[in-house]
Amino acid sequence: MAACVEVSSLSVETLNGFKILENISLSIDCGDFVVVSGPSGGGKSTLLKVLLGIRDALENLRVAGDVRVLGVDVLKYGFTKLFGRVGVVLQNPVNQVFSLTVEEEVAFPLENAGLDVSEIRRRVDEALKVMELDSLRNRFVNTLSMGQIQRVVLASAIALRPELLILDEPCSYLDPVAKKRFYEYVYSYWRDRKATIVVVEHDLDYVLGFATKLLILNRKVVAYGSPLKVLSEMNIGDYGVKEPIYIKISKQFNKVARNVEESIEYLKSVICRNE
Ligand SMILES: Nc1ncnc2c1ncn2[C@@H]1O[C@H](COP(=O)(O)OP(=O)(O)O)[C@@H](O)[C@H]1O
Ligand SMILES: [Mg+2]
Repeated sequence: MAACVEVSSLSVETLNGFKILENISLSIDCGDFVVVSGPSGGGKSTLLKVLLGIRDALENLRVAGDVRVLGVDVLKYGFTKLFGRVGVVLQNPVNQVFSLTVEEEVAFPLENAGLDVSEIRRRVDEALKVMELDSLRNRFVNTLSMGQIQRVVLASAIALRPELLILDEPCSYLDPVAKKRFYEYVYSYWRDRKATIVVVEHDLDYVLGFATKLLILNRKVVAYGSPLKVLSEMNIGDYGVKEPIYIKISKQFNKVARNVEESIEYLKSVICRNE
């Protein structure tokens, strides 16, 4: 599998020497679904800003190392070289919309990308349908709920059909039901488009079941590998990350469940034994 993201010896520090990321090296394969977690202040957002080559955000920081995203040296060329190939959803959706109608919001990046009118219409229709925003297409985004705005931002990102989708705590304003739905949208995009996903999330309940890799970041790489491997080898609770309840249950039986169903099977087997 080709590497989609290659980070080698990346260090980021403030101008007065506070180390935010220390000598990070990792590789993300194309087609991976990577969940990044760890304590608050552990450098997760900083890592994403580096991957995105957001120069403004890195302005007052010293950044060293080599970072390639889809083959582009982002520290050298910045985000412009990746336009259209990488979709982004950040923590506060309000910062990512322009207060147009839902339809215009989704069409905006497509117009910027220079697509022709019929292609734009096709992609907007498709993205609105997938995100169940059809009935809201003529509403101004500033009249929508946070959850709806978050869906508009995701629709706008996926309409460009990016190869890589980068999400930084994208569900912070969503209730559990909306959160579950949101990650189902992300999952179906990943599956249908064979995209690569990198998502920062501290609440693993709704997303870990989709992940191919789990990265625990605390200034350094604490752990990186398949969720099953990482969860069997360490207690993520030590790094402020809540274990999903089905993992907790299965660990009672010295196992690590891959999903809720497996965890229920363990429970059933114990209940049957005790009957
Ligand atoms: N531009 C900056 N200037 C100074 N300190 C920063 C800057 N960006 C991040 N930090 C500090 O780096 C640490 C990690 O921040 P961040 O990457 O946002 O962590 P996380 O997303 O894991 O919560 C925090 O202590 C934060 O205050
Ligand atoms: Mg953050």
